[in-house]
Amino acid sequence: MPGRTQELYLLLLLGLGLGQQETLPPPCESEIYCHGALLHQVQMAKFFQDDKHFVDMPLSRAPEQVLQSFNELAKAHNHSIPRQQLLGFVQEHFQAPGQELQPWTPGDWKDSPRFLQKISDAKLRAWAGQLHTLWKKLGKKMKPEVLSHPNQFSLIYSEYPFIVPGGRFLEFYYWDSYWVMEGLLLSEMPETVKGMLLNFLRLVETYGHVPNGGRVYYLQRSQPPLLTLMMARYVTHTNDTAFLREHIGTLALELDFWAEKRNISISSGGSSYALNRYHVPYGGPRPESYSKDAELADTLPEGAREALWAELKAGAESGWDFSSRWLVGGTNPNSLSSIRTSKLVPVDLNAFLCQAEELMSHFYSILGNDSQATKYRNLRAQRLAALNTVLWDEEKGAWFDYDLENGKKNQEFYPSNLAPLWAGCFSDPAVADKALKYLEDNRILAFQHGIPTSLLKTGQQWDFPNAWAPLQDLVIRGLDKSHSPRTQEVAFQLAQNWIRTNFDVYSRKSAMYEKYDINNGGEPGGGGEYEVQEGFGWTNGVVLMLLDRYGDRLRSGAWPVLLEPHCLAAALLPNLLLSLMLW
Ligand SMILES: *[C@@H]1O[C@H](CO)[C@@H](O)[C@H](O)[C@H]1NC(C)=O
Ligand SMILES: *[C@@H]1O[C@H](CO)[C@@H](O)[C@H](O)[C@H]1NC(C)=O
Ligand SMILES: *[C@@H]1O[C@H](CO)[C@@H](O)[C@H](O)[C@H]1NC(C)=O
Ligand SMILES: *[C@@H]1O[C@H](CO)[C@@H](O)[C@H](O)[C@H]1NC(C)=O
Repeated sequence: MPGRTQELYLLLLLGLGLGQQETLPPPCESEIYCHGALLHQVQMAKFFQDDKHFVDMPLSRAPEQVLQSFNELAKAHNHSIPRQQLLGFVQEHFQAPGQELQPWTPGDWKDSPRFLQKISDAKLRAWAGQLHTLWKKLGKKMKPEVLSHPNQFSLIYSEYPFIVPGGRFLEFYYWDSYWVMEGLLLSEMPETVKGMLLNFLRLVETYGHVPNGGRVYYLQRSQPPLLTLMMARYVTHTNDTAFLREHIGTLALELDFWAEKRNISISSGGSSYALNRYHVPYGGPRPESYSKDAELADTLPEGAREALWAELKAGAESGWDFSSRWLVGGTNPNSLSSIRTSKLVPVDLNAFLCQAEELMSHFYSILGNDSQATKYRNLRAQRLAALNTVLWDEEKGAWFDYDLENGKKNQEFYPSNLAPLWAGCFSDPAVADKALKYLEDNRILAFQHGIPTSLLKTGQQWDFPNAWAPLQDLVIRGLDKSHSPRTQEVAFQLAQNWIRTNFDVYSRKSAMYEKYDINNGGEPGGGGEYEVQEGFGWTNGVVLMLLDRYGDRLRSGAWPVLLEPHCLAAALLPNLLLSLMLW
């Protein structure tokens, strides 16, 4: 059976024109959770509201037995199993999702971490205390069965307990975990962070990369690479250089994955530049969104379907699933069927890698390995030159995703266009003030509830009117790098806007959300493939970071402020009025 599967993948790779280096077996061979007739029939029957439900269900017995019963059932019904029988089969052979995880109270959780004392507004301080308490609700640990019977679970066994985002996301996610860890460090929980880091490092040792999330059906793809940064934050917090020394080789291995499997070379002005892209050379619908991907493919000619699925997976790898960013330049930019993620060179991905290269160079010099330190310093210098030449736009004062096929930049607004500022990946300090002008030119400061993900309303969740916590962080901490008081003041006001949105929704709903709709008074967001999720790991992390950074100034009752240039001088006036009224 594995032989046939590999053959199939090889054909598929050739069909995609990707017949290059892939000699490894497909990263997920499960004929239940990743591909095959069982997955197809059950997902297309849509027994559950969300396709993720089925692929999260543990098996009640060994996969060979489940497959054998399925084959017998299929044969008995000439391969078209009636709905009721199929449902009966699922009920008999699968268990409810979430059974393999158990609640876990982090051992290093404690009352009253110090940073709470930096928050002067009493309501915000109480709220931060509640978010700190939420780590106990989001903490999960795997049951021993996952280790003893790994084939009966889609969950990938991880030794150390971890924090999940919440809602439908019962397992850990790669880039989410960075903002979760920032929050955990403020909560003085470095042991929890260390465990999560060890889980990720083990995944790199096993698979060569960090998968999108902790399930086998996520193995084909990664997510924005922030592992090196996670290590940097942990090491800064703890001074644990022994841990760094022990694992630096694994960090290097992860960067090799991006350098070798996600690289692209671009010619410009007679020179060639090496940059990176999101790219997943595997076809087939995403198991956790199977019926949606299959139905979308039905709108295309058969020969185009595998390529569509590969591009959808690359979109998921970008973390921005999905967005106009990946639809630009396609035949129908309003339809997901035009997705062409791998044809774009993303600003944020290259900024994250640039930062990782700088950190690696720094790490290696701390550890006394000068040749490796030089290697990464040179890689960063090359990337900086490539960013300047290929992605930077002097006139607009920002970086833009580069469209490889059309040979031009995508000049739409996205917060990711300022990621190099956040990542410290620039040489001219003036870029922070140019970034402010870029935000003003796009009238981004006119939004009172948060920075929108784009100005395009496509119905995708990584577009207008949704606002996401990590993107607020990218812009706020980017602007905060400026030496100009005005730019720093805007960074603060953006933080105030976001805190107010999160706090107001929390006050009404007692919940934190994955994303917020800034067009609608900052309600929980919508759009995309599934219902908005409560929890929520990275949102909590970003709120704690902002409360730590600006705790002496942030107010729970602050009035919405328009940050248009002419309004900025008056930015403090509403607060003044409010205090007069209260007085
Ligand atoms: C089984 O289904 C195929 C088409 O899917 C059909 O041609 C065939 O006649 C069927 N056989 C029986 C025994 O019903
Ligand atoms: C880490 O080391 C630095 C410099 O030696 C020191 O200032 C800092 O307090 C140390 N931090 C911890 C958590 O030990
Ligand atoms: C990526 O790098 C590998 C080796 O590191 C090289 O063989 C390959 O040609 C590169 N791919 C692209 C598209 O540049
Ligand atoms: C530096 O790191 C490289 C790669 O891990 C290793 O081969 C080399 O021996 C190291 N050099 C020193 C001086 O530690």
